[in-house]
Amino acid sequence: MPEDYTLQEVLSDADAYYAAGDARGAIEVLFQGWDQFETGAADSAGEAIRLALGRICYSYWVKRDFETGRQITAMVVNAALERARRTVEPEFAAVYAEAAAATGTSPFPLQRIFRHQNLVRLFRRVAAEIAGDVAECGCARGLSFMELCLAFGRDHPDWAGEGFHVFDSFEGLSEPGEKDLGLDQSDAGAAQIARNMVPGNFAVAFDLVRENVHRRFPRVELHRGWIPNAFSAVAGRSFRFVHLDVDLYQPTLDSLDYFFPRLAVGGVIITDDYNWPGARTAFLEFCARHRLQLQATDTSQAFVQKGSDAVKPNSV
Ligand SMILES: C[S@@+](CC[C@H](N)C(=O)[O-])C[C@H]1O[C@@H](n2cnc3c(N)ncnc32)[C@H](O)[C@@H]1O
Repeated sequence: MPEDYTLQEVLSDADAYYAAGDARGAIEVLFQGWDQFETGAADSAGEAIRLALGRICYSYWVKRDFETGRQITAMVVNAALERARRTVEPEFAAVYAEAAAATGTSPFPLQRIFRHQNLVRLFRRVAAEIAGDVAECGCARGLSFMELCLAFGRDHPDWAGEGFHVFDSFEGLSEPGEKDLGLDQSDAGAAQIARNMVPGNFAVAFDLVRENVHRRFPRVELHRGWIPNAFSAVAGRSFRFVHLDVDLYQPTLDSLDYFFPRLAVGGVIITDDYNWPGARTAFLEFCARHRLQLQATDTSQAFVQKGSDAVKPNSV
């Protein structure tokens, strides 16, 4: 590739390779562009190249060619990690690529992979020792939930989704309240969070998510509705692991209020979005009120374990 290739030329060459049926060639061109424009930073060239890579991965989900999608997504993830000079456990990289391909989710932003690796690592440690159901509140297209399922499925080959629950409005975020405001504007991530904090954001059609999840794990229970109303469906259950990813104060607090009393001893509730003011305040308030020891990860999550035998923080 010539040194003075423009971004436009990179993108249109990649399109031409893809149109000719050579997705790997397209990906190679895009990564050459990535190297030329040093797109590790959140600049517009980087964004355009990551979008183009994400679109190629997504196209296999659209075609229902999940196996090729898995391979192509794994290739993209590994090449991006190499450029970031970061690694994840190969087993998790495979789970991440497969979950992204199975749910039609772009593998970017790359930093998500480190956060989800911590989630799955903690989940596997808890699931190996504690019995009970598993829930995720806030699934969007189902990426993190699919990772939990795939990781559990690797350890339990005959399992078809029994005891796993998803809760989501499937109408996106609810209305932010007072405690969701107060972003630290000096924080580089604040603008991104503010852009995302919009009622209805992350809405994904229920049927689409159900199809994504049930294709692999037909016994998973998907509960459609606003939190906490949707929880009545699991009133009698006991949980070993609950993943909260609803971003905002009220649904995070409602989820903690509901699931903590139903958590088995040794069970864990973890929240994503510990860098969002609402989720963070809810977790802090809940733990202070119940005198619980909260553990924060270095990937913007926080978790609490019921009982005395603490699991070590996953950031070590
Ligand atoms: C950031 S997305 C979840 C991302 C997902 N865990 C993943 O890995 O891609 C947040 C989700 O929370 C759901 N949500 C937010 N507030 C909710 C509420 N009050 N009740 C039910 N679902 C809600 C949204 O519909 C959305 O799917």
